[in-house]
Amino acid sequence: MSRTEICVCLALLWSVPCVWSDTVHIYVSPTGSDSNDGQSSSHPVKTLNHVVDTMLGQDGVRGNSVFVELMQGYHDLSSTLHIQSTSGTVVFRAYQGQEVHVVGGKRLPSSNFHHVTDSHVRDRLPQESRDKVLEVDLTAAGITDLGTLRNYGFGISWTAPLEIFINGNALRLAEWPNINFINIKSIPDGASGSRFTYDAGGRDVNWAKETEPWVYGWWQWGWADRSLPVSHVDSHTHTITLKEKPHYQLSVGHYDPSKPHGQASGNAQGGYFRVVNMLCEIDQPGEYYIDRTHKKLYVWPNTPHQTLTSSDIVYASLLQECVIIESTAQHVQFQDISLEACRHSGFVLRNARNITFQSMEIKNTGGAAISCSGNCRAVSVLGSDIHDVGGGVHISGGDRKNLVSSDNVISDNHIWLHARVGAQANHGIRLGGVHGVVSHNHLHHGQYTGIWWSGNDHVIEYNHIHHMCWNSSDCGAIHSGRDWTWRGNVIRHNHIHDVQRHFPGAPVRGIMLDDEYSAVLIEHNVFYDNDIHTNIGGGRDNVIRYNVMYNALDQSIQVDGRGLGHGHGEYLRGKLQHTPYRTDLWKSRYPKLYSILDHHPEAPEGNQIYTNVFYNKIGIERIHYSGHGLERTDYFDAHDNHKAYSTSEFLSPDYADFRLRCEAAQWGSTSHFPRPVALDEVGPRVPTGPHYLRVHRQTLTTKHTPPTSPPCSSSTVAPATHTPRGSYLPDGSAPNTLYPHIAKDGCWFITDHCPKHPTAEGTHKDDLGTQNGTEEGCLARAAQQWIWCGSPSNGRVVAVYGPTGAMTIGAEGCYFAEYGCRSTTPGIIHRDTYAEAHENASHSEAHCLRRASPQWIYCGSPVDRPYTSIYGPTGAFRTAGAGCWVKVRSCPAHRDQEGFFFDAWGATNRDTGSDREECYGRAQYFWAKCGSHSNSPVTAYFRPQGSSHTYP
Ligand SMILES: *[C@@H]1O[C@H](CO)[C@@H](O)[C@H](O)[C@H]1NC(C)=O
Ligand SMILES: *[C@@H]1O[C@H](CO)[C@@H](O)[C@H](O)[C@H]1NC(C)=O
Ligand SMILES: *[C@@H]1O[C@H](CO)[C@@H](O)[C@H](O)[C@H]1NC(C)=O
Ligand SMILES: *[C@@H]1O[C@H](CO)[C@@H](O)[C@H](O)[C@H]1NC(C)=O
Repeated sequence: MSRTEICVCLALLWSVPCVWSDTVHIYVSPTGSDSNDGQSSSHPVKTLNHVVDTMLGQDGVRGNSVFVELMQGYHDLSSTLHIQSTSGTVVFRAYQGQEVHVVGGKRLPSSNFHHVTDSHVRDRLPQESRDKVLEVDLTAAGITDLGTLRNYGFGISWTAPLEIFINGNALRLAEWPNINFINIKSIPDGASGSRFTYDAGGRDVNWAKETEPWVYGWWQWGWADRSLPVSHVDSHTHTITLKEKPHYQLSVGHYDPSKPHGQASGNAQGGYFRVVNMLCEIDQPGEYYIDRTHKKLYVWPNTPHQTLTSSDIVYASLLQECVIIESTAQHVQFQDISLEACRHSGFVLRNARNITFQSMEIKNTGGAAISCSGNCRAVSVLGSDIHDVGGGVHISGGDRKNLVSSDNVISDNHIWLHARVGAQANHGIRLGGVHGVVSHNHLHHGQYTGIWWSGNDHVIEYNHIHHMCWNSSDCGAIHSGRDWTWRGNVIRHNHIHDVQRHFPGAPVRGIMLDDEYSAVLIEHNVFYDNDIHTNIGGGRDNVIRYNVMYNALDQSIQVDGRGLGHGHGEYLRGKLQHTPYRTDLWKSRYPKLYSILDHHPEAPEGNQIYTNVFYNKIGIERIHYSGHGLERTDYFDAHDNHKAYSTSEFLSPDYADFRLRCEAAQWGSTSHFPRPVALDEVGPRVPTGPHYLRVHRQTLTTKHTPPTSPPCSSSTVAPATHTPRGSYLPDGSAPNTLYPHIAKDGCWFITDHCPKHPTAEGTHKDDLGTQNGTEEGCLARAAQQWIWCGSPSNGRVVAVYGPTGAMTIGAEGCYFAEYGCRSTTPGIIHRDTYAEAHENASHSEAHCLRRASPQWIYCGSPVDRPYTSIYGPTGAFRTAGAGCWVKVRSCPAHRDQEGFFFDAWGATNRDTGSDREECYGRAQYFWAKCGSHSNSPVTAYFRPQGSSHTYP
């Protein structure tokens, strides 16, 4: 064995530990012999199993730095490579960058394949495939373990049965339809039954003859797929009876691939499927079927010529796990090798230490390419190609109690088509534990989530991620949820784009913070062309800043307060109690978590959205507020964001260059907005995969010459002339038509019934209110006067502020002032009896006032029929209606701006009627215009939500 003192310094870029020791080289070649000593490339051993099982433990090898030099060719593993214990470094690598495949299966020579002659079989094949399909007698080919057909999809890391790969490409179990799905038409035994009907255009005549049929589908939800065995196909009634029920229930399907989002109507999701594992459905190249009774394989080759020659390489997968690395084995490295055809995982590790995968290709697995569970430390996956697998890299480690880092690194990899079979659990990267780094990866075309994280202090940065959530709904390209304690995580400097929904169901997002996920920092990312760039699903303390949010198709950001409704409070509190969040260590790291129960933990408090730049087409909102928690503006504190009105405010969006120009550049320099990360700064910094693949590949160039930038557009449109109608309860924005004769000075009462002081009945000027001199001071007097009168249940006090005509009432209960929903009612003020009876609105100001907006929306958001809610015991009121309205109380610099008016310019030029933040921004604008006097605040009323914002 050759011995040299060298430094095993493998990769400069990734700072792999450098170890000085004796080195030993062991050569392995598929043409070698296990009776060779393996000391030189001319005397290689034959099998990796021999190297690992016997040679690594031998004296003279053990304890040294060992290089296992794999020579060109296909290294078939005879059994799982079980790496038990090592005491030095062991590096498995391709010798001199040769093309090396390590395969968990057996090669089937093309001479084993024959055209189908048995007329019974030919009759069952579709006409078009009878002369294309080839058969193999597996027993004669020496294969006895056909594996088991198991469920795949929702929550499952799949162990495949025997699969077939031709020239490295996976075949599919024969299925129909080959693309898209069939809808369930009816469910005769109801949603929890196991029968459903469908319309397959008569094709099912042959399904009834199948011996082992399966179905794969999205049964109830667009985020929960499953394959299921079938017990019976009835081709007369077109009914399938399942052998096993789906995880959730059955539903009728409305999937329509011709519609955007695959949707026929509304949000109906689930209820569509394919049939799988049917001989009669080998109707396309690339499909196969195994007759398990007669142990016969049938394939329609997916080669260019649709047949097989001796140069085609066909493999059948046999091993469940290809390589297992025990925790006793440390400092193991795999480099420059293709690993493929494993029924479950490529590499399985548990509690591993110091393991490195570098420049690998891992493909064609049923489960994850690399799965490291338990407490994995210093495990690195670098510069590798991972594709056509059941999941990419799934890794957890570190010590959460003591917040000790795992030092796991997943960097510079190219990961794609990582949910080859089954969508939901097959994440490209699943990161758990403490401080893993996921950086510079390129991830794309996953059926469900690209990066899923749990735990603490992870960094997800400089990744290029796109076309995720490809076949599902309610999904995030980067996704986590349902835990308050997963804190300290950062998602920054990523390019995230083209995450769009093609299937029915809830939205998909670039980053999805599901079910009260809290306290992530999302900064310096560039988002473009996603349905929704990111959401906050009712969680707390999330910060979204310094991001470019370009061209959302639904909304840029979506926020809600789901914890205030039927949230997951019990579950979340349970998880909180199982974390040491009250220790000094956790307190110092996550102070807001320490005191979470002192607040209202289910409320979406502490979220901040600031210094982001947005561009959307007209009508697409920047921040969409849905459900609970709308009126509390501090729940989602959005400020100092810039809304671009033209694509010309970016250097070259078509080339993903979002450097700011024009108005955005001016805003950017005053707001210290950093330069957006460029496309060539994200994704792998090195060519990925084994050397033999890299030499044939064009290096990806992302540098483009942007077209010359168009001039800055500075056009402003003429303001809208139509002013939406104001409140029926005069609020100062229009003349008071209810009490038109009240004098224009002072504060006035109109009292109909005053049992304690009957002389106060009638119309009187109020001294206290007049002295106060403000509209607010006058209106606050109505309630005081009504109480002074003895709080009569059958009486009201109206207060009118002369100079503006603004008024309110002091009375018992909760009121609506309205023009009616659709009728031509001239306008009335009446008790909101529904809310008084059902929503405690007579006793709670908040419950009374929150009625206006939903009632107005319920009426169809009519521009000229606003709704005002008035809480009698305080006289407080709130109006919901159309438009952004501005109240300028005093404007020393421009007296003509004083008053309460509809923001016509903003409605036309800044979308203030549909964009809350933009409306609120007008308060600051007018305050500055009026001279920035701290005692002259300006209020902007965003009427669609009945909410307002006062500046300063
Ligand atoms: C990894 O190896 C280095 C170098 O031998 C060592 O210092 C470090 O402690 C190891 N890490 C783990 C988690 O075992
Ligand atoms: C996922 O959707 C894409 C785009 O519609 C399609 O090309 C692909 O075949 C689908 N994958 C599966 C497994 O259905
Ligand atoms: C006027 O009334 C308002 C509202 O009730 C109150 O906040 C303010 O202190 C009063 N000002 C004076 C001078 O009485
Ligand atoms: C109604 O609201 C009042 C004021 O917030 C509160 O004190 C009371 O408990 C509430 N009643 C019910 C039945 O919720």
